[in-house]
Amino acid sequence: MESYWNRSVKNKPKFPKVDNNLVTDVCIIGAGLTGLSTGYYLGKDTDFIIIEKDEICLSTSGKNTGKVTSQHGLFYKYLLDSNGIEYAKKYFEVNEKAIDNIEKIIRDENIECEFKRESSYVFTRKPEDKSRISNEEKVVNKIQKDKAKVLSNVNLPLDIVSAIEFKNQAKFNPVKYCYGLVNAIVRNGGKIYENSKATKIEKLDDKYEIYVNEYKITANKVVLATRYPTINIPGYYFLKMYQSTSYAIVADVKEELFDGYYISSDNPVISFRTIEENGKKLLLAVGYDYKTGTEQVTNGYLDLESTVRYMYPQAEILDKWTAEDCISLDKIAYIGEYSHLMKNLYVATGYNKWGLTTSNIAGKILVDKILDRENEYEELYKSTRLEPIKNFDEMKNMISEAKDSIILSKFKLPKDYIEDVKNGEGKIVNIDNQKIGVYKDDNGKIFTVKPICTHLGCELYFNNIDKLWECPCHGSKFTYDGKAIEVPGIVDLEQ
Ligand SMILES: Cc1cc2nc3c(=O)[nH]c(=O)nc-3n(C[C@H](O)[C@H](O)[C@H](O)COP(=O)(O)OP(=O)(O)OC[C@H]3O[C@@H](n4cnc5c(N)ncnc54)[C@H](O)[C@@H]3O)c2cc1C
Ligand code: FES
Repeated sequence: MESYWNRSVKNKPKFPKVDNNLVTDVCIIGAGLTGLSTGYYLGKDTDFIIIEKDEICLSTSGKNTGKVTSQHGLFYKYLLDSNGIEYAKKYFEVNEKAIDNIEKIIRDENIECEFKRESSYVFTRKPEDKSRISNEEKVVNKIQKDKAKVLSNVNLPLDIVSAIEFKNQAKFNPVKYCYGLVNAIVRNGGKIYENSKATKIEKLDDKYEIYVNEYKITANKVVLATRYPTINIPGYYFLKMYQSTSYAIVADVKEELFDGYYISSDNPVISFRTIEENGKKLLLAVGYDYKTGTEQVTNGYLDLESTVRYMYPQAEILDKWTAEDCISLDKIAYIGEYSHLMKNLYVATGYNKWGLTTSNIAGKILVDKILDRENEYEELYKSTRLEPIKNFDEMKNMISEAKDSIILSKFKLPKDYIEDVKNGEGKIVNIDNQKIGVYKDDNGKIFTVKPICTHLGCELYFNNIDKLWECPCHGSKFTYDGKAIEVPGIVDLEQ
């Protein structure tokens, strides 16, 4: 479903498909915030191409909450405990700088994207979590004096026990910002192609060949800005991350709305902000996450809607969508070299739903790497680090889930038959002792697919809320008739 942000941008510029062989210095794959920030910082002096498999900013970069902040949940106490105070300080510093960098880009390029400085809050509704808030405050104020403030009440109609405020954070319309970057990139001579999917990347001596729409792009350097890397080996990112999906709704609540923006520290995580439209404030609520490809116990849209109606009984729902992002096992993004074994191939992924500042940081780090310059923050996000692998419990879970799903896909026949599928529903059924994925639309029209993920072969699960085939292993998504829409799967399902 289209997000509010994408709906709000009219007359988007369109870009051609790759329709001949091309040669470039740098090929950036993916035109979300990571690809566009990298292209922006490459500027005028480097020859580069950005290729996008669909439309610019249609994926997670166009479906988020638009909070530009260094407050990534209750994160600094976690960073202190896991990596020490110097690390936590640098993480805070680089994210605060990223807010300033984004503001500077918006000013320099005259981007009208509703950028506004506001306070950001993390709140809890649980008395037992009060101490987590005060511990976070202590750590943050150790990093920067008076940055954080604990409050016992905030301006949200929920039973809040405690909250922590960061002043001078920001928000914007992410799609308008993306198109502002696009205009600047084009003005600087950068080339962008849409509807151009990279289906294979081959290393030949000191160059890369990227296969796109039956043509080839030859590049010295490649940036995988695809959110989830589409090359499996030798980077092994599929062992170091999973994807999590959240629900989003925009509502006209017919009441006065709050200033600032909010996210809960307790589960289910819910995040709120306002959007100013024609002199009126709308509410954007995001949350009720689930690990992509797993069964959702309840319908997240309904859960979110009932939370919003509890807060604002007259709320009218205007938009609904879902979006996913990569969650790294140590909660820190991977930015830099894809692998020691593939020189000049770069990656930025695992943003843990905090990719607005992180994509700006990634753009700067990747451009410094491409241009062979030092970057004082590259060690923070070192993509080839081994620490996430040391999260044995989570990794064991992921391997065991993938193994079960692959074994299940091969051996266990489903108990349902095609007549057991109701209209508007999808399921894996037994047809002549073969597993077939069946979706019946509201009129009973049948769509069948082979329900095996084209990424690494896990068995898919049908999400009856969004009518999509989803992969429990690494979060690929396919339409009910098999079109690959969310990476790492890039090949459509067999019909
Ligand atoms: C619900 C939700 C709310 C969020 N809210 C916030 C927030 O408030 N603040 C914040 O900081 N972060 C937030 N985030 C996180 C942030 O939106 C993401 O981390 C960020 O947008 C990721 O950007 P990206 O460019 O790496 O990925 P994407 O936006 O996914 O872009 C990747 C692009 O690559 C393209 N692509 C993939 N494979 C290929 C291929 N083979 N060939 C060509 N193109 C390809 C895709 O089509 C896509 O356009 C949120 C995330 C979610 C899910
Ligand atoms: S996403 Fe990896 S196997 Fe499906």
